[in-house]
Amino acid sequence: MKKIKYQINKLRQKILKYDYFYHTLDQPIISDPEYDYLLNQLYDLELKHKEFVTSDSPTQKIGSNLLNKFKKIRHFFPMLSLENTFDLNGYVKFENRIKKKFINESVIDFCCELKIDGIAVSLIYELGTLVRAATRGDGYFGENITKNIKTIKSIPIQLKGCNIPKRLEVRGEVFMLKSDFLQLNNIDSTVKKKHFSNPRNIAAGSLRQIDAQITAKRKLMFFCHGFNFFEEIIYFKTHYEVLIQLKNWGIPINKEMLICSNYLEVLNFYKKFEKNRLSFDFDIDGIVVKVNSLYFQKKLGSNNKSPRWAIAFKYSSKEEVTKLNDIKFEVGRTGVITPVAYFNPVYISGVLIKKASLYNKNEINKLNLHFNDYIIIKRSGDVIPKIINVVKNKRLTNAKKIFFPIYCPVCNSKLMSNKEEKIIRCLSGLICDAQKKKIFCHFFSKNALDANGLGPKVINELIQKKIVLNLIDFFYLTEEQLKDIENVGKKKSIKIIKTIVKSKKTTMSRFIYALGIFSVGEIIGQKLSNYFNTCNNLINASKQELESIDGIGKVVANNIFNYFSIFENRRLVKRLIEILNIIPCSKHSINNKMTRIFNKDIVITGVFKEYSRNELKKILLKLGARINNRVSQKTELLIYGEKVGSKFLEAKKFNIKMINEKEFYFLINNTN
Ligand code: IVH
Repeated sequence: MKKIKYQINKLRQKILKYDYFYHTLDQPIISDPEYDYLLNQLYDLELKHKEFVTSDSPTQKIGSNLLNKFKKIRHFFPMLSLENTFDLNGYVKFENRIKKKFINESVIDFCCELKIDGIAVSLIYELGTLVRAATRGDGYFGENITKNIKTIKSIPIQLKGCNIPKRLEVRGEVFMLKSDFLQLNNIDSTVKKKHFSNPRNIAAGSLRQIDAQITAKRKLMFFCHGFNFFEEIIYFKTHYEVLIQLKNWGIPINKEMLICSNYLEVLNFYKKFEKNRLSFDFDIDGIVVKVNSLYFQKKLGSNNKSPRWAIAFKYSSKEEVTKLNDIKFEVGRTGVITPVAYFNPVYISGVLIKKASLYNKNEINKLNLHFNDYIIIKRSGDVIPKIINVVKNKRLTNAKKIFFPIYCPVCNSKLMSNKEEKIIRCLSGLICDAQKKKIFCHFFSKNALDANGLGPKVINELIQKKIVLNLIDFFYLTEEQLKDIENVGKKKSIKIIKTIVKSKKTTMSRFIYALGIFSVGEIIGQKLSNYFNTCNNLINASKQELESIDGIGKVVANNIFNYFSIFENRRLVKRLIEILNIIPCSKHSINNKMTRIFNKDIVITGVFKEYSRNELKKILLKLGARINNRVSQKTELLIYGEKVGSKFLEAKKFNIKMINEKEFYFLINNTN
């Protein structure tokens, strides 16, 4: 105990010193994440040992300390997400799972609520006063929006009534009324300019206004749907009871709640509001069903994404009927033909939609589409536009059926389909102008040969004017030729030529990726480069050899083999090898099994001096590492640069080995 008290005092002294440098002298001597890290450590200790909490602790001044513009703050309890279902089946599975766990209980109650389509926030009340508010962020760290939240009229700064806990977390949804959204869209031209397409987006934008006065003008609302206590409060038995108590303390809750004990009752609640949802003045996108008993909630716990005691039973997004104008068959870089339907624009969940992909031939056949059909559109998974059906009785009698083409709409060569007719491709490659443009753009793109300055517009014109016929021609372009291109003056043409010359020096993995072989992305490019070491070895590889490479399956091996079996491709690649300066795979990557990085789960964070993050990722991949974007318990190493953020703190929390940029270079240069 003495040790803990000593630790707490030490932390407080440190933090107060840093506060003094920051606030009084205006000369911060540690970075923000480091400061937050210390403050969070202190919080953790104080949470576990409340007997040591004193009123002069820096944690008690949280509101003022962290009020800086959108500083990141760590949530006391992770802000998880919800498991989703769109159908009764999914809901019943959830209910059965819970009932199975508490098989001896005669009744399990569920609290049903509306799922408000807004922005999740966490509010911290200390001794009944609102001291801190944060967005959800990544669930562990959110942005400090205290100032903005304080402008929302329905959120009390001071709770009323008695028995208010010393510290309390209130969670809920900030949203805007639909009527206010429409009115604002009419009167505030800045809102229109920013294209806030729905009340949710505008609520999010308003909360993150640096000038809180703007937030104040935007008339935001709040409904509470969750809470966390910092000490056990035995007199609350259920979620519902707590919400009612919160209401009595002055926190707004939505009145539409119902306690149900089985899926039929839940379904009734779901259906009732599915019908009514459009009549509400705020958006709801489903209902949330929660185990009502706090004791059972605790027993069920959470996984790392969502609590096991709650589920969102969502409404499918709205459907709209509109008129189909045209179907264009677009040719992708690898020749895959994708039908895209163009229709009269419609708003769905606040987003203006005017086209939808149809994926493949089967889908066109299934829908039996005709020109000028009236079609039903929805946003699948609430995001991607999809045609779900045709209104048959609105079809004109002489309407023409839409067929999948037999010939490529761009180069007219015969299209080929695989066995299941799922993917239809034009195999003409560079002979097809559509593919040619995309292949050229891909070849010089950032992660391939990286010739910035040579963008799609210039490439397109060079093709149209027949100045370049193949990839080789780019390397012989002259200033004179480039001057004919729109918006390319003398200065720009010099820049383009320079950029192309510079791009000649590349690595083998980039080169393989740049070729744009069907299904060969950057990682496969790296694997091939590690394995073959020279491009000639790769060109001459047999199917069996390709298949034997770790991480390369039959289909990919086939694609690579087929690509190099085509005479024109071999000739092109050989010419490119002559022109380019391709750096063969480095010794490190050949022997990557020997490095301390091989097979390790690595996360990188911050800004690096020697390399960009992308370059660093490539080096790590080359050394056989697995790169993850998020820190988890599985992470084995964190490499950090300057200006680190939440990943750094997360790694500290999990006690993960961390090395800085210098240590990393030392490690890779002295490893084998
Ligand atoms: S309970 C662990 N209840 O929906 C999260 N969430 O899609 C427990 N939401 O992040 C949340 N209405 O922001 C809960 N009545 C309600 C809700 C609700 C809206 C939001 C919430 C959550 C998101 C998940």
